[in-house]
Amino acid sequence: MSKEKENDMKMITVYIMGKAYKVPFGLTIMKAMEYAGYRFIRGSGCRAGFCGACATVYRRKGEYKLRTALACQTTVEDGMYLAQLPFVPSNRKEYDIEELDPKKNVLSEYYPEINRCVSCNTCTKACPQELQVMDYIQASIRGDYKLVTSLSFDCIQCGLCVVRCPAEITHYHVAQLARRLYGKYYSPVPQHLLDRLKEIEEGKFDSEIEELKKMDAKKLEEVYVARDIQKIPRGEVAGE
Ligand code: SF4
Ligand code: SF4
Ligand code: FES
Repeated sequence: MSKEKENDMKMITVYIMGKAYKVPFGLTIMKAMEYAGYRFIRGSGCRAGFCGACATVYRRKGEYKLRTALACQTTVEDGMYLAQLPFVPSNRKEYDIEELDPKKNVLSEYYPEINRCVSCNTCTKACPQELQVMDYIQASIRGDYKLVTSLSFDCIQCGLCVVRCPAEITHYHVAQLARRLYGKYYSPVPQHLLDRLKEIEEGKFDSEIEELKKMDAKKLEEVYVARDIQKIPRGEVAGE
């Protein structure tokens, strides 16, 4: 029997919230949990690695290391002990972006805990997006909005860095404020976007929009998948 066929039929044991289940080899953590009978009411969203809702911590049998993952993107391994984190409590500060003075160090003012960072790099190791989280916190301390924006651009706000941080920093809220400040006060005005908005207002795409509105979900999906999409290399800030 081929290795692939053998693997197709292989069942492995995982522990979900402490209870053992036999699940097929090759499933994602999310699918394995569903196979085991769990139904996601919280802790699941896009199922494609974008929304950050499926934060998971796990430990391999006999291993000292507590690992982190997205349940929809990570396949199960034999002997995994799994627990979901459907929500990470964190306080987002209230602010009016129009009233902030970006020349002051707004990030330290609103999130002073960033100055408690001990440079342990645990946040970086926890990040399923492989972002340089510690580096963006260090850039936040210096008030370097552009670097924080660039380093945190792919953050999906899963909260896994937050649960591991000994300084109790809510990294993704800090980064979100930095991106908002950079976007509002420093990023170049995208002329192509202004031109496109003008075209939309002048009705250039009205007939195409009407066509789209008539399509059913399947056709819309086909059109969506076949669209032209601008590729922005990871870590690069749009509009640069
Ligand atoms: S986990 Fe917290 S203390 Fe450690 S490097 Fe990251 S931000 Fe700093
Ligand atoms: S930076 Fe933190 S919140 Fe953002 S994706 Fe990484 S671990 Fe998740
Ligand atoms: S369900 Fe959205 S990232 Fe996993």
